[in-house]
Amino acid sequence: MLSGKRIILGVTGGIAAYKAAFLLRALQKAGAEVRVTMTPAATRFVGTETFSSLSKHEVAVDVFPENESATQSWTQHISWGEWADLFIIAPCTANTLAKIATGAADNMLTSTVLAARCPLLICPTMDGEMYKSPAVQKNLSTVQEFGYHVLEPEEGYLASGLEGKGRLPETNLILEKCSTVLRQHQSEGPLTGKKVVVTAGPTREHIDPVRFISNPSSGKMGLAMAEAARNMGAEVTLIHGPITMNAPTDIISIEIKSTEELFEQVKNHSDADVIVMAAAVSDFTPEKKHAEKVKKDKANSSIKLKQTPDILAWLGDHKKNGQVLIGFAMETENLIENAEKKLKKKKADWIIANSLNEDDSGFESDRNKVHLLGKKDAVQIEGLKSEVAREVLSHIFDNS
Ligand code: CTP
Repeated sequence: MLSGKRIILGVTGGIAAYKAAFLLRALQKAGAEVRVTMTPAATRFVGTETFSSLSKHEVAVDVFPENESATQSWTQHISWGEWADLFIIAPCTANTLAKIATGAADNMLTSTVLAARCPLLICPTMDGEMYKSPAVQKNLSTVQEFGYHVLEPEEGYLASGLEGKGRLPETNLILEKCSTVLRQHQSEGPLTGKKVVVTAGPTREHIDPVRFISNPSSGKMGLAMAEAARNMGAEVTLIHGPITMNAPTDIISIEIKSTEELFEQVKNHSDADVIVMAAAVSDFTPEKKHAEKVKKDKANSSIKLKQTPDILAWLGDHKKNGQVLIGFAMETENLIENAEKKLKKKKADWIIANSLNEDDSGFESDRNKVHLLGKKDAVQIEGLKSEVAREVLSHIFDNS
């Protein structure tokens, strides 16, 4: 359950902060990618270097970092909140719990709590009498009313030398609770039990072993669609051309190079409940592919091309009962008009149209601005590709 999951580990200022380093390692061993945010008080118990070395990522403490960098900026709580599948606060002090219960955002950890879109698991850890206090108990009820998960502390010997209920549970129990929380959230998704196939990235049409026709697709939008479908509970297969990113391990990943290979794989998976054609498929391929490198003094100055099969149109013609077919349209002019034509011609249920002429959208950008066309009026969605993907799928599956 934890394999391939992106987890934010929040560490607050209690003596059990040292145990968070073991928790981090255990999460990594279970296959999760972990980033750490600490409260300033937590850094008095364990240095940030311990967590940055283990997580191989800078640790976020202040909302306004001393040195702004690619990985440390004052908007990091937003991007991390978007990135994560799960946020665990272990240990969580009475002070941080109170802040969460009242919506305070005075450091990176508490700000990230508010920005997070993923489930939050709080592991309250403190002295037994503090834990029993009416204020802490009220705050625990409040955060549970918010929909946050709480793992009760264990009874036992505390740092104060006293016995009581307040110890951070053993690492394996925290891991089990993480899996339960993730499963619970997954089983609530609108795509639970559905098979979703997403194609992504470019295709390559080889002229000879060292030259090919392709396009600058990064596969980011397709990967975002795959992750959004996975987050809604779907079993996702990603069929992708050459891209530099890796899909999380809970997404089945199939690599292809040419349109022919893509078509073959799509046909093999064409019984899926939902198919998203986000791949930037090459429309043409050389008529002749040379087995050996063509020497330039022997090469023709023109290459004869033939059209590749239109995979989305084929899917439209072979649509299964109840299947939802989602295509993309990349345009440089007459965006809506051209996208509407593609919607009809390819018999898709939805087309996600984007323009190459817009700022902050298109092939390599992290953001996108799209128009979603279906049977009703088009809706415009803009934001990080991950946000756009989630909103597109919510719109489609909450309306269906
Ligand atoms: N597509 C496909 N097979 C192709 C070409 C495109 O399945 N051979 C799919 C894309 O994955 C996308 C949709 O069709 O979902 C529209 O792709 P786009 O490149 O915008 O349009 P084309 O059909 O290629 O038409 P044109 O190049 O004339 O705009």
